[in-house]
Amino acid sequence: MGSIWSNKPPPSSSSRALSSRQTPCTRTHQIGALFLVATTFFFTRLLFFDPSVSSSTAATSTTLLLHHHHHQQEAASLGVGPISWPHCGYGPYLSLKIYVYDEHDDDIRGLDQLLGGRDGSIPPTSCLEGQWGTQVKIHRLLLESRFRTLRKEEADLFFVPAYARCLKRMGGLNDQEINQTYVKVLSQMPYFRRSGGRDHIFVFPSGLGAHLFRSWATYINRSIILTPEVPSFSTVTTPYNGDRTDKEGTSAFNTWKDIIIPGNVDDGMTKPGAPLVQPLPLSKRKYLANYLGRAQGKVGRLRLIELAKQFPDKLESPELKFSGPEKLEKVEYFQHLRDAKFCLAPRGESSWTLRFFESFFVECVPVILSDQAEFPFQNVIDYTLFSIKWPSTSIGPELLEYLESIPDEDIERMIAAGRQVRCLWVYAPDSDLCSAMQGILWELQRKVRQFHQSAETFWLHNRTIVNRNLVEFFSWKPPMPLP
Ligand SMILES: *[C@@H]1O[C@H](CO)[C@@H](O)[C@H](O)[C@H]1NC(C)=O
Ligand SMILES: *[C@@H]1O[C@H](CO)[C@@H](O)[C@H](O)[C@H]1NC(C)=O
Ligand SMILES: *[C@@H]1O[C@H](CO)[C@@H](O)[C@H](O)[C@H]1NC(C)=O
Repeated sequence: MGSIWSNKPPPSSSSRALSSRQTPCTRTHQIGALFLVATTFFFTRLLFFDPSVSSSTAATSTTLLLHHHHHQQEAASLGVGPISWPHCGYGPYLSLKIYVYDEHDDDIRGLDQLLGGRDGSIPPTSCLEGQWGTQVKIHRLLLESRFRTLRKEEADLFFVPAYARCLKRMGGLNDQEINQTYVKVLSQMPYFRRSGGRDHIFVFPSGLGAHLFRSWATYINRSIILTPEVPSFSTVTTPYNGDRTDKEGTSAFNTWKDIIIPGNVDDGMTKPGAPLVQPLPLSKRKYLANYLGRAQGKVGRLRLIELAKQFPDKLESPELKFSGPEKLEKVEYFQHLRDAKFCLAPRGESSWTLRFFESFFVECVPVILSDQAEFPFQNVIDYTLFSIKWPSTSIGPELLEYLESIPDEDIERMIAAGRQVRCLWVYAPDSDLCSAMQGILWELQRKVRQFHQSAETFWLHNRTIVNRNLVEFFSWKPPMPLP
């Protein structure tokens, strides 16, 4: 397992005088490699290091050169110390400071509209439910997080809250207003200007991704975007609300800077103790597989509905409606979902599907039928342990035949592995060591840089950050020029 990182120093170190104290990525540091592999038992201890246990190893990774770049007064006294690389990019424990922009802050006018609509009439609770609830939940969890800082000067990252997806649907803001309000808000943020947006975080909770903000590519294409999926355009045949105006093949998601987040599974299913619907023992399940969703005219979904007519005792896949008698109510939906060994998750309007995440809470094995789908926390989770990905081009009797050939003991093994990871899909406070929020914070920690700059940022011999007109950073006045 340890071979990927084996004690090799980072490639760039050969020609530089790096510290000899540089810590190789030892077994313990390979959060990813360890995950679930024969060690599920120690799950939380290994995945989420306890600061009190590992603080001694922390010292080696925090002696970074020029660490206090905010405190320019200290510059003169700061010697050029040894450089040491963070442990595999994660560090041995979480240590980051996130500033959450405040909608009541008079310096950032318009931000309140991105949370409550043009006249502030949309209550946040109405945006909390459903698959887009993450935009509210992440904001709230950060507000109460121990990694939150109230001082912009010391922040590693900046969170820009907005419930735009929900506001769009509720009529709180239209597309044009969303775009203009985002631009207005950003132009009042000197820190956004300073880094060109590189240390700013945005949540886009739907299949539209960052396209919800029409001019995203101009303004926030360097920022960290949290989204449940990779919007992919080449395969989208019907434009969704006419919004996917990208050039063919361009995506608002960038694997190297953005973060895939889990979908928002209904709170009634994720709460510890008594969920709305309990899983059934494998032997009591009526179907081999199911798919319970609207067809939305999608090829894969239509094929499943046809297949269910052909094999009605193996596959449950009724044609569901948005409303009316053929719409499943919440409890009824989960009762159906738990009645199969495998829960099929074909792509819909976009490549992600909430069904994938829901399947873990009724304990069916998710079968991904969405070729472009991307999944959260891939640095630490090996998805082959508890899910199946099957080519969407082979949805037919061969899929059912294959699923039927899988012995129950293998299914049980996958379900047991799924039980170990599903806490990572739950939007619980980050004090909960296995939660979506912990996972997101670990991913964010990897993005923290000691230094930020942009094309419009300059610095002088005495480490003063200035703009093009040589005005010192702390004297920059909004509105800031944006691209
Ligand atoms: C978004 O708003 C900015 C600023 O008002 C404007 O320049 C830009 O053209 C808008 N983008 C779209 C796609 O309307
Ligand atoms: C981001 O936007 C800027 C300004 O429009 C543009 O110059 C740059 O090429 C874009 N970068 C990427 C990676 O798209
Ligand atoms: C840094 O140097 C510039 C240019 O000489 C000067 O205007 C500025 O006051 C200096 N800043 C500090 C903090 O010494």
